[in-house]
Amino acid sequence: MRFESDFLVIGGGIAGLWFAIQAAQHGTVIMLAKKDVRESSTNYAQGGIAAVSSKDDSLEEHVQDTMAAGADLCKPDIVRTVISEGPPLIEELVRLGVEFTTCKHTDTNRFDLGLEGGHSKRRILHASDFTGREIVGKLFAVAADHPRIQFRNYHIAIDLLISPRDRDLAPKEKRCWGAYVLDIEKNEVHSFVAPTTVLATGGTGKVYLYTSNPDIATGDGVAMAYRAGARVANMEFTQFHPTCLYHPQAKSFLISEAVRGEGGTLRLIDGSTFMEKYHPSGCLAPRDIVARAIDRELKKRGEEYVTLDITHRDPDFIRSRFPNIYRECLAWGIDITRQPIPVVPAAHYMCGGVVVDALGQTDIQNLYAVGEVACTGLHGANRLASNSLLEALVFAQRAADTSCRRMGERKAPCPPLPHWTSGHAVDSDESIVVAHNWDEIRRLMSNYVSIFRSNKRLERAKRRIDALVGEIHQYYWDFLITADLIELRNLVLVADLIITSAMTRKESRGLHYNISYPVTDDETWKRDTILWRGYQ
Ligand code: FAD
Ligand code: SIN
Repeated sequence: MRFESDFLVIGGGIAGLWFAIQAAQHGTVIMLAKKDVRESSTNYAQGGIAAVSSKDDSLEEHVQDTMAAGADLCKPDIVRTVISEGPPLIEELVRLGVEFTTCKHTDTNRFDLGLEGGHSKRRILHASDFTGREIVGKLFAVAADHPRIQFRNYHIAIDLLISPRDRDLAPKEKRCWGAYVLDIEKNEVHSFVAPTTVLATGGTGKVYLYTSNPDIATGDGVAMAYRAGARVANMEFTQFHPTCLYHPQAKSFLISEAVRGEGGTLRLIDGSTFMEKYHPSGCLAPRDIVARAIDRELKKRGEEYVTLDITHRDPDFIRSRFPNIYRECLAWGIDITRQPIPVVPAAHYMCGGVVVDALGQTDIQNLYAVGEVACTGLHGANRLASNSLLEALVFAQRAADTSCRRMGERKAPCPPLPHWTSGHAVDSDESIVVAHNWDEIRRLMSNYVSIFRSNKRLERAKRRIDALVGEIHQYYWDFLITADLIELRNLVLVADLIITSAMTRKESRGLHYNISYPVTDDETWKRDTILWRGYQ
C-alpha cells in the first residue's frame, strides 16, 4: 500500500517529536517508530540539557567548553548557533509542560543546575535523573493530541524512496520521496510517500556489545542515507560513557555523570583514587579522558570494574537528586547511599553521522537529518556532556522552519515510484544465523574498535567485517525481510563505516585513540573524515 503525508518523520525521540510538533502547524505528519514511540535513547537521558540560564554563566563560556571538549574539530559557527538558539527553545519546552527541577536553595537561579565533565559552570537543566522520560512524556502528549500527526508504531523504515530515474544522479540532484517501511506486526512492506522526509533515527550504540543505548540504536538512519548516496562524517568518534553499571545481569544502565558533578569519586577496587594522575579536573575531566583512564587502569590491573563512590553525601540528598539511579541500583543489591557503585565504560553516543548543513538538510534534496543521526559540526571529536538533547532541539526546529518554508516553493511532481517487491526471496529457515552474525559484529567491535585502537586491530576487524558484509548481503537478498534482518544489514554497514573512518584517520584526537599514531596531527588531520558510497 501507499500512504501519503506532507512530512514523513522516521523516529520519535526528542528530534523527531520536536520536528513533528513544529511541522504539523503547516501540514500533515506521519511519524514512524520501530517500537513504541516512547522507546528511544531520549527516554533514558538522565543528566539533562546543557543551556545557559544562570547569571553566573555566559553563552561564550558554554561555547568555549564545547570547543575544548571537541578537540579542535567543532565548527565554531554551528557551536554558536546551537548554544545561542538553545535557551529560548528550553523556554518553549517549559511552556509545553516539561518540568525541570527548580532551585530550592537560593533565589539567584530559577532551575537547579547540574554539573558534568568538561563544563566550567553549572548549566545542566534536569528533571531529577529522568530528564528524558519527562521530555518524551510531555512532547508525546502534545503530539498525540495534534490532529495532523499520525503515529505508526512498530513500523521500521527499510530504505529511502529515490526514484529509479534519479538513482545514478549526483546526491545533490537526487530527491527523496519517503521510505519503504515494514509494518512489523502485519509483516507487510508499504511505501510511505512524502515531499519532505526526516531522519530522526538516533544513534549506533548497538554496534558494540557493551552500550548504554536501548535496542533501537542500530544506526538505521546512517545506513539508509549512506546507501542512498549521502555523505556521512566522523564515524570514528564513538563516545564511551565512563560510568555504566557493572553487574553481570544488568543490561545497559547508565550512572549519570551528574553523580560526579555532585561529588561522586572514581576509585579503584582497593579504594584508591586515580583520576588526579590523568587530568587537572580529575573525575570531571572530559569524557574521552575519563573513559581512557578507566580502561587503562582496568587493563593494567586485570580488574573488571572501578567504583563510583558518593557515600559521603547525605542519603536524603542522594535519594532525592538521583531517585532513578538509587532505585535501579538497589534492585541489583547496591545501596548507593552506603556502597560504592561498580562501573565500566560503555559505548554511548555517535558524534559522527549523516552530513547536514546549518539547516539540517542532507546532500539529498528533501531529506533532512536531525538529532543523533546527524553530523552537524557541534561535537567535533568529542561531545560535551548534555549537548545532544540541545543539538536535537535546535536542529529539529531549524529543519522544520526550513522545510515548511520550502513547502510553497516545491514544483516538481512526485515521479512514479516502484512498489516493493520481494523477488525470489523465501522464508528463512536459519534465523539463528542473524543472531550469530549480530553477536559476532558486536564482539568484534568491542574487542578491536573500542577505546584504544591500533592498526593491527583495525586491520583484523576490517578483514572480518568485509566477510560479514558479503554474507549478510547474500542473506538479505535470499530471504524475506524481517525487522532483525533489516537491523543486521544496517549494523554491519555502520560497523564498516566506523572501522573505515578509524583506519582513515592516522592520528589520535578526541575519542579516537590509535596507539599506532598516538599524537594529534593538526597539519594533516584537523578535518572531518568523510565517506560516501563508492569512496572505498
Ligand atoms: P532517539 O531518542 O534515539 O530516537 C530514535 C527514534 O528512531 C526511536 O523512536 C526509534 O524507534 C526510531 N527509529 C530508529 N530506526 C528506525 C527505523 N529504521 N524505522 C523507524 N523508526 C526508527 N544526552 C544529553 O544531552 N543529556 C543526557 O542527559 C543524556 N543522557 C543519556 C542517557 C542514556 C542512557 C543514553 C542512551 C543517551 C543519553 N544522551 C543524553 C544522549 C541523548 O539521549 C541522545 O543523543 C538523544 O536522545 C537522541 O535523540 P534522537 O531523537 O536523535 O534519537
Ligand atoms: C549522563 O547523564 O551522564 C549522560 C549525559 C550525556 O550523555 O550527555
